[in-house]
Amino acid sequence: MSETIKKAIFPAAGLGTRFLPATKASPKEMLPIVDKPMIQYGVEEAISCGINEFLIITGKHKRSIEDHFDCAFELEDNLKKSGKQQLLEEIKRLNQTNIAYIRQGYALGLGHAILCAKPFVKEEPFAVILSDDIIPPEDTLLRDMMLIYGKLKSPILALQQVSMSEIHRYGVIDGVREGDGVYRVNNLVEKPTRESAPSDLAIIGRYILTPDIFDVLAKAEPGKGGEIQLTDAIGTLLQSRPVYGFLYKGKRYDAGDKLGYLKATVDFAIKNPDLSGEFKSYLLAVAKKIGNGKLPE
Ligand code: UTP
Repeated sequence: MSETIKKAIFPAAGLGTRFLPATKASPKEMLPIVDKPMIQYGVEEAISCGINEFLIITGKHKRSIEDHFDCAFELEDNLKKSGKQQLLEEIKRLNQTNIAYIRQGYALGLGHAILCAKPFVKEEPFAVILSDDIIPPEDTLLRDMMLIYGKLKSPILALQQVSMSEIHRYGVIDGVREGDGVYRVNNLVEKPTRESAPSDLAIIGRYILTPDIFDVLAKAEPGKGGEIQLTDAIGTLLQSRPVYGFLYKGKRYDAGDKLGYLKATVDFAIKNPDLSGEFKSYLLAVAKKIGNGKLPE
């Protein structure tokens, strides 16, 4: 099996029910954080780690994702004629990325979406990026996971400590710390209750997986919510090989959720050099009004 991670999978075939009605006819992954769709942040994160082959798992109403990473002759011509060179270069860069697409006919769950990637992955280890889990571009989570994979040659799950009031939204591990943020996973539970959660270490949207996961997924039965769950499949995999977690201590935005999406938008806008000054003044004025018990007009 290859030593390095060259391929990344972006499951993007979910129904995005938490964002309805916005996601009725357009993909959640195309919702912008300031001026870039969520999925572009994920693709750029993978590129920054040296990954150069990408697969997006799409479904119904997802064609705009393909259009986003495709050539746009008319737009490019228009930007060229109006001298908007910087924008032109940015737009052209998007279609220089080597992206393949596979359709998941029915949204049968994240595990099933990953199984759809089998013909693309073949016999290599690969990264999975859930693009609605946004990691700030300056962070090195995926890179760190790839380095750990290089040493352990086993699946690596990104973990984050979450509060027990939110634990029911995640896959949660039972594990033993082996040093330097690395945990050996003993067991996993998908969406546990506060009482049944084995820890507060939740799996977040970055994985390094090995191709033996496909055999497990092919035999997997539907789990929580009637979906083929990736967490359950990794649980089965544990019977035949070690699996590790890496505890991420940086910032993450769950932008598949409205509040997380708003937080990402505000923080990214504050850091955006074109917006920062005026946006901060606006936020301060809003904060002052809220502090005085008023609503913004
Ligand atoms: P989510 O749990 O966020 O589900 O999926 P969702 O459908 O996108 O959104 P909600 O919860 O209904 O609001 C996690 C990731 O798995 C993908 C999603 O696109 C998202 O990136 N996914 C989920 C699939 O690709 N296929 C599926 O069948 C389910």
